[in-house]
Amino acid sequence: MAAKIISGKAVAQEIREEIKKEVEKLKEKYNVTPGLVTVLVGEDPASQVYVGQKEKTSKNLGFYSERHDLPATTSEEELLSLIGKLNKDPKIHGILVQLPLPKHINETNVLYAIDPKKDVDGFHPVNVGKLMIGEPDYLPCTPAGIQELLIRSGTQIEGAEVVVVGRSNIVGKPIANMLLQKAPGANATVTVCHTRTRDIKFHTKRADILIVAAGRPKAVTADMVKEGVVVIDVGVNRLETGLCGDVDFEAVKEKAAAITPVPGGVGPMTITMLMKNTLKAAKLLNGIRE
Ligand SMILES: NC(=O)c1ccc[n+]([C@@H]2O[C@H](COP(=O)([O-])OP(=O)(O)OC[C@H]3O[C@@H](n4cnc5c(N)ncnc54)[C@H](OP(=O)(O)O)[C@@H]3O)[C@@H](O)[C@H]2O)c1
Repeated sequence: MAAKIISGKAVAQEIREEIKKEVEKLKEKYNVTPGLVTVLVGEDPASQVYVGQKEKTSKNLGFYSERHDLPATTSEEELLSLIGKLNKDPKIHGILVQLPLPKHINETNVLYAIDPKKDVDGFHPVNVGKLMIGEPDYLPCTPAGIQELLIRSGTQIEGAEVVVVGRSNIVGKPIANMLLQKAPGANATVTVCHTRTRDIKFHTKRADILIVAAGRPKAVTADMVKEGVVVIDVGVNRLETGLCGDVDFEAVKEKAAAITPVPGGVGPMTITMLMKNTLKAAKLLNGIRE
């Protein structure tokens, strides 16, 4: 039987409606408007598209939105000085510096300069550490989107054998960490695979939930999965024929119980979770506990 398609687009829309209602309530009850600032250095076309989408979504949700587009020649010092000002600006609750930065700027210095309370990307070591010990303020956006997709699609996570392919700091490692926490929507048994894994198929075939973030088109084929698996395909690969995930969707969907498409799967969830983090930041910074 063909798999149920888990629509990230539909789930993202559902969550955006929830955020909109909360934003209205925050404005009415506390006179607080969540504020998100995006900082883009240089003119990378893909980054311009991503920043544009973030700006548009935040405006649609009723956020205060600010955008700083800086020339590629901006020095690290100038960028750090801007971040210092944004850290102190009470209208701003979330600071998003679009990556990658030009080569002459040290990305780590910049990410570490963001006030952890305004780090809505969840990349600051303070937030990474809090996630690790099970007390997160901000979950990194793509892993948070993956977990929401699993929860809202009714997937049994507790006790499941989860296999993650990929160990990057922005997807593989944090999602593995999140799903093994002793917490609701987690409590899984997690295995992480990477390019040095001896026999990837041995692991992927055991998975009840398979999360693939390898950045390799169709790296996971039908012979690598078991019947009834739930597959989350994080990969976004731009081929001449269009966008394609890391999973051979057409073949794997014949064996899977459920699967995310590319596009329309994890992608729309990432921006939505950024908005959710910004809403949370507005509450945390204003001492609002609801
Ligand atoms: N939809 C979204 O919102 C979203 C967000 C973020 C990323 N993405 C996409 O997700 C994919 C992964 O992103 P990323 O930033 O995590 O990538 P990354 O930093 O390039 O990491 C890829 C990871 O996959 C592992 N890997 C690569 N090929 C493999 C293979 N054949 N078998 C097993 N492991 C393999 C690598 O292993 P080693 O560590 O051994 O090198 C590495 O750990 C990309 O396509 C990216 O565009 C999508």
